[in-house]
Amino acid sequence: MKVVAVIAQKGGSGKTTLSLNLTIAAELDGKSTAIIDIDPQASSAKCGGL
Ligand SMILES: Nc1ncnc2c1ncn2[C@@H]1O[C@H](COP(=O)(O)OP(=O)(O)OP(=O)(O)O)[C@@H](O)[C@H]1O
Ligand SMILES: [Mg+2]
Repeated sequence: MKVVAVIAQKGGSGKTTLSLNLTIAAELDGKSTAIIDIDPQASSAKCGGL
């Protein structure tokens, strides 16, 4: 299992967008993925239907 952490101190730098796109790309490549969203905003979790 590979773990990719998308980390940046600066807000609004694209962490959520990059995480979601990496996940979608991996899924399209046939891999099984999971996003662990520990941000109180829960932006990634709200996109769970993608
Ligand atoms: N590569 C990009 N090109 C243009 N716009 C982008 C890119 N990546 C992200 N954005 C836009 O920048 C904004 C912030 O992106 P995002 O929410 O992913 O940042 P974040 O680091 O997760 O923010 P936060 O710190 O608030 O969680 C969004 O409007 C997103 O659509
Ligand atoms: Mg975010």
